[in-house]
Amino acid sequence: MDRIRIVGGVPLNGSIRISGAKNAALKLMAASLLTDQTLTLSNLPHLADITTLIHLLQEHGVAVVMNGAEGDEGHVGRVLSLKAADIASTTAPYDIVRKMRASILVLGPLVARCGTARVSLPGGCAIGPRPVDLHLQGLEALGAEITLADGYVDASAPRGLTGATVRFPFVSVGATENLLMAATLAKGETVLENAAREPEVADLAHCLQAMGADIGGIGTDRLVIQGKPALHGADYRVMPDRIEIGTYAAAAGITGGTLELQGAEAEHLGAVIEVMERAGLEIAETGTAAKPALTVSRPGKVIGTDVTTQPYPGFPTDMQAQIMALMSVADGASTIVETIFENRYMHVPELIRMGADITVSGSTAVVRGVPALKGAPVMATDLRASVSLVLAGLVAEGETLISRVYHLDRGYERIEDKLAACGARIERLKG
Ligand code: EPZ
Repeated sequence: MDRIRIVGGVPLNGSIRISGAKNAALKLMAASLLTDQTLTLSNLPHLADITTLIHLLQEHGVAVVMNGAEGDEGHVGRVLSLKAADIASTTAPYDIVRKMRASILVLGPLVARCGTARVSLPGGCAIGPRPVDLHLQGLEALGAEITLADGYVDASAPRGLTGATVRFPFVSVGATENLLMAATLAKGETVLENAAREPEVADLAHCLQAMGADIGGIGTDRLVIQGKPALHGADYRVMPDRIEIGTYAAAAGITGGTLELQGAEAEHLGAVIEVMERAGLEIAETGTAAKPALTVSRPGKVIGTDVTTQPYPGFPTDMQAQIMALMSVADGASTIVETIFENRYMHVPELIRMGADITVSGSTAVVRGVPALKGAPVMATDLRASVSLVLAGLVAEGETLISRVYHLDRGYERIEDKLAACGARIERLKG
């Protein structure tokens, strides 16, 4: 298994091109199941999770064609055409779903289009048990019959889905997206209340609109969908990855360098920018309307800053581990509260091994900034935890060796190349 070796202590300076958003791209790809025509997606990131979903969609009979890339670096901003002319199989097997929980996103589109779907239950993962009950209750409200057997969800709606009002008891990004996709082909009107407002949900809704769906309330917590008998093909560009932007902003901040993040827009980063500015970072819009960019630097010390994760527009849970790495070298203490996932502090023991002073009690972590971190062999159990260790390694004295790099490959496109181009002493050790 590959490892990443970092020798810390170099302030990063230079430019990083931001990739398309993984958590938007996966849903847009699942939306291809809703039509027999071609959905062409551009600005797709080159990531392990995208490849996993390609395999699953091929299992369902989707013809997937890679049409090259927009950029000049081969795998930057890939263009993918997906055509689900016929659904060959409505089963999403355990072997693929276990690799990636987002596979559950094929459930809504399949049952809406085919009247039946059989999808393996994803099971728990490193950041918590992560049930899918809201997805299933929502589909039942649209008239699907759901049974659970042998680790699979069987959904059946032989006469199609029917619109209904679904009020989510709490915000779920995935359940909102599954129901949104299903509702586009249901009979009549569906209203999704307390819907997730994450920008990736809006990106999906805009893509569905381009495919002919009738959706009102995009960007709000009340989505109103008028079902259509069929959707059609479309060309759609995946939004930039706001979590990748936040991660590289943290890299500039933790190393005390200056990074220009090409393709980054402040629009979806309100809470992240607010926290980072309180923490002593400077973030300026330096691009043009055609070529947006954010430039991030840290003129003084990192300042201890309290953070609570919340559904959008609050501070994203997917930035919690990175901000904790930054706070671990801050001047002063900070309190971090994780409200979305039960078990998203797997990076804490590893950061402590690098010299961080962090105490966790329930969902609250108190981070007392230390003058310096020290390199160490570390490993992590999920994507954002792994990248927080990369950030810590960039500023730590000496060598940090990160194992289980496959977590990083799920969500960060060519991370070591992007960081090395800005001066980081980072390399991938194969094997
Ligand atoms: C999405 O996961 C993202 N994944 C996550 O990013 C992200 O952390 C999360 O949204 C929150 O922003 C993708 O987009 C592929 P949820 P999702 O449903 O949709 C509970 C990353 O690092 N819940 O909003 O699975 C759930 O356990 C990943 O890129 C139920 O109880 O998240 C969690 O505590 C990790 N029942 C909370 O709700 C359900 O039916 C929010 O989960 C659904 C969710």
